[in-house]
Amino acid sequence: MTARRPGRSPRFLAGLAVGLVAVATALSACAAVPPNVPTGDRIRDTVPTGVDFGTAIEGGRTSRALDDPTYVSTVATTFTSVTPENQMKWSIVRPDAASFDFAPADQVADLARRNGQRMRGHTLLWHGGNPSWLTGRSWECSELRPIVKQHVTTLVSRYADVVREWDVANEILDGGANLRTSENPFIAACGIDIVKDAFRWAHEADPKARLFLTDYDVEGVNPKSDAYLALVKDLLAEGVPVHGFGIQAHLDNREGAPGSVQANLQRFADLGLDVAVTELDVKVPLPMAIPSQASLRRQADVYGSVLDACLRVSRCTSFTVWGFTDRYSWVPEYRPGYGSATLMTAEYEAKPALNTIVDRLKQGRR
Ligand code: XIL
Repeated sequence: MTARRPGRSPRFLAGLAVGLVAVATALSACAAVPPNVPTGDRIRDTVPTGVDFGTAIEGGRTSRALDDPTYVSTVATTFTSVTPENQMKWSIVRPDAASFDFAPADQVADLARRNGQRMRGHTLLWHGGNPSWLTGRSWECSELRPIVKQHVTTLVSRYADVVREWDVANEILDGGANLRTSENPFIAACGIDIVKDAFRWAHEADPKARLFLTDYDVEGVNPKSDAYLALVKDLLAEGVPVHGFGIQAHLDNREGAPGSVQANLQRFADLGLDVAVTELDVKVPLPMAIPSQASLRRQADVYGSVLDACLRVSRCTSFTVWGFTDRYSWVPEYRPGYGSATLMTAEYEAKPALNTIVDRLKQGRR
């Protein structure tokens, strides 16, 4: 009897078949799933009046994505709003205390102008994305305040034709809902007053712009969003021109979205504010490098639940995803072990989440 060659046993072949089916199944999960719009129609045309559907535009001093024709054409046909991912941050715009480099931000603004899109200005004051000349020393408020005033006035004036909403102050509360008095160089020098001043200077520079406070982990009703509600009430009572509150919504596919997103947005709207979803993505743990169909279906439900919450609050004026293709998502670099956080694969194939978003946009306001 011929010795059986290793690896040819029925058990091995059966195992091989099972493994191949599993891989094929996983790969089919990302198979092209055309978005639910008739061929040739534009997703942006399904967006209901009164709300913008936006995306962050990848880049810093340079942009890989804006050299990618498929990326550029997809942005033009899919979204009514764009947000510079990094191009308006101090580290890009301010080479030093006396100069500005507008080129990267202008590239995003010119894209919006060409596409007839609005832009979300991101962001005037943040503890991240700052240059070393700003963070490498301590500042007297009397020194830094005029620099900040010039920054806010210059940027808001320059982009007044295309920016409708500004993230004036981003992430000013920490995880314990305390003011970031040490990490944020502006608040470290001047306290909360610099935030109030930034809103006033932005309003003077562009009275029609809607001026937002934004943060993460404030999507539902929780101690941090409670703290923002109290802060907004105080600012409004003082006559500070705060017009909006934005939830970033960087979510985890296993945790999903809080059940109180709509209630949370509504309570800020009840103060007379606009509300917005400003940076939605839903990261997926990727032990297998390729998400399962079940993971992608769950991700679609998470995206849909956040858009539902926005569409059910009449003051929700924009719904922005933090990138729309896995090809340029920030997640793999900043959240190792996670990926597949956006609406399309790296090959621009629609995931179930994009179809869910399109279906909800077509249904309109609830
Ligand atoms: C991130 C960008 O996506 C990265 O490219 C950059 O290196 C760091 O900042 N909240 C914000 C965004 O308000 O500005 C951050 O964007 C993500 C978290």
